[in-house]
Amino acid sequence: MYKIIRRETFSDSTFLWEVLAPDVANSAQPGHFVMVRLHEGSERIPLTVADFDRNRGTITMVIQSLGKTTIEMRDHYQEGDSFADFVGPLGMPQHVGKVGHVVLVGGGLGVAPVYPQLRAFKDAGNRTTGIIGFRNKDLVFWEDRFKAYCDDLIVCTDDGSYGTPGFVTSALKEVLERDKPDLVIAIGPLPMMNACVETTRPFGVKTMVSLNAIMVDATGMCGSCRVSVGSEVKFACVDGPDFDGHQVDFRELLLRQRRFNVEEAKASEDYAH
Ligand code: FES
Repeated sequence: MYKIIRRETFSDSTFLWEVLAPDVANSAQPGHFVMVRLHEGSERIPLTVADFDRNRGTITMVIQSLGKTTIEMRDHYQEGDSFADFVGPLGMPQHVGKVGHVVLVGGGLGVAPVYPQLRAFKDAGNRTTGIIGFRNKDLVFWEDRFKAYCDDLIVCTDDGSYGTPGFVTSALKEVLERDKPDLVIAIGPLPMMNACVETTRPFGVKTMVSLNAIMVDATGMCGSCRVSVGSEVKFACVDGPDFDGHQVDFRELLLRQRRFNVEEAKASEDYAH
């Protein structure tokens, strides 16, 4: 069993779990993810590592309650509770080196997995610009953590209730025009990553994205997380989840992501009643 040693609520739907898992924390790198299973019979869900602390032996994840399992996590698992399985770290870590000026873009929940990448790129000697975007002021989190590692930080809200009004892509375009970076990292919902990739494409700036493809086994066997990258078929769970965004077929991926919509809606509805 794995214990939740800290739980923090960011909003009605967003919360943090810090889980005691020393072996996972020892080998975690930015870009890795973990698979969580709450109990016998529950589904396994992939969560990107938002932070790791080798001294405390913990892994931190930021979770949004969108479907049956994440709603169960929000409503029934508190600080001190334990759950059945925690497997990781999985996937390939982000390649972190000294490249110059790195812009790290996080959208909504994607802000969390961007954070360890920001820290690693800063520690590697890069100049860092952070762009983090939320729907509104109430959903903003980790601004302080980002400030600690960003040379420049732009906080955007879609409704203009805090920081710079508008989407992260507008802020990204301004940075590209003013102070062209050497690398962009973008993590968030698929349409947001797609929009970031199309924003950087005309500028020819390499843009890495983290693909939250639907995963089942997370071992490269089932094919569920298949993505087309360039002319190749890749599996997000073992080849990714980080890929060169300019090579990713987002149109195909967006279609594949919708294939379980009906079943997911039914599972959430059944759980609610
Ligand atoms: Fe099954 Fe990736 S989740 S191949």
